[in-house]
Amino acid sequence: MTTTPKTSVPTRALGATGPAVSALGLGCMGMSALYGEADRAESIATVHAALDAGVTLLDTGDFYGMGHNELLINEALRTAPAAARERALTSVKFGALRTVEGGFTGYDGRPAAVKNFAAYSLQRLGTDHIDVYRIARVDPDVPIEETVGAIAELVEAGHVRHIGLSEVGADTLRRAAAVAPIADLQIEYSLISRSIEEKILPTARELGIGVTAYGVLSRGLISGHFTRDRELAAGDFRGFSPRFQGDNLRHNLDLVDRLRAVAEAKGVTVAQTAIAWVLAQGQDIVPLIGARRRDRLAEALGALDVTLDAADLAAIEEAVPADAAAGARYPEAQMAHLDSEH
Ligand SMILES: NC(=O)c1ccc[n+]([C@@H]2O[C@H](COP(=O)([O-])OP(=O)(O)OC[C@H]3O[C@@H](n4cnc5c(N)ncnc54)[C@H](OP(=O)(O)O)[C@@H]3O)[C@@H](O)[C@H]2O)c1
Repeated sequence: MTTTPKTSVPTRALGATGPAVSALGLGCMGMSALYGEADRAESIATVHAALDAGVTLLDTGDFYGMGHNELLINEALRTAPAAARERALTSVKFGALRTVEGGFTGYDGRPAAVKNFAAYSLQRLGTDHIDVYRIARVDPDVPIEETVGAIAELVEAGHVRHIGLSEVGADTLRRAAAVAPIADLQIEYSLISRSIEEKILPTARELGIGVTAYGVLSRGLISGHFTRDRELAAGDFRGFSPRFQGDNLRHNLDLVDRLRAVAEAKGVTVAQTAIAWVLAQGQDIVPLIGARRRDRLAEALGALDVTLDAADLAAIEEAVPADAAAGARYPEAQMAHLDSEH
């Protein structure tokens, strides 16, 4: 493995106060959870390939596989060349409460819990600081000011560099930004998940808060690789996501076929078109790529070479109009946890 990036990945600023990061970040969740079995060696090879290509942003959560994902990132960073390791920035979510069986029972944003979560994450990651730290979902019992205030104290102590937020609405963005500088909001954004456009994105822009977009491929649904007859492992998120069920799935894959026609006309793949569309929505948006295999990563990085002009963007939006998807982006119980949807 060489230390010189092979692909030139441009950088984007993470908000007015955050670090410069690669224009695409690597979301590592699927390497430990939610999308069925992942191959550990291939996962680590994928992180290495991403770093080697010039990706600097690695996104994780302490609850992804209950520590598994952070330990995997630790191993990947330890075994990467020093120069690549030094370029890497960690973006970590905390706060989700789990059961031994793997269930989710709520969120804890109390200041003492925030510091406890951080202590464990630093240990598992094997680093002395986390670059961007955020609660995964707002704890309804703890004012966001207290949770963000606790992260600000971690910044003060040098354990965290920047504060982020996840899936919060415009009001919470304002309240949090009044406490301390917020680098970015991590939130779902894709061709078929566009609810941030009305209020949240304009507010983030007004406050100088960047966006790390997840679900850019809608969990693989609009990747061009998902098929009607795909068998899902027990516990795979897509087994209970409304968009992947019955008639909804049929309708949504018809949209993908329409997108495929636009992609083929441009000589690129469906996934590249979907990622390039998000990249084209603003320099302040950094898509996270959920690749867990090197071939998927290579395809995703190819989106950086796709230029969409006004005619391309119009053709894409005609193929997949806003609000065209059938089914909500989360099951009902999980939608209720989304401050961004209230
Ligand atoms: N803040 C939050 O609430 C939140 C929520 C969810 C995720 N996230 C973060 O965002 C990251 C990305 O989310 P996501 O994984 O759901 O997003 P995604 O990129 O929409 O979906 C990833 C899925 O797409 C499939 N895929 C097919 N072609 C691909 C390609 N060329 N490149 C990448 N993936 C391809 C993958 O396939 P295979 O099945 O073949 O591997 C995987 O199942 C996560 O890893 C996590 O770090 C944050």
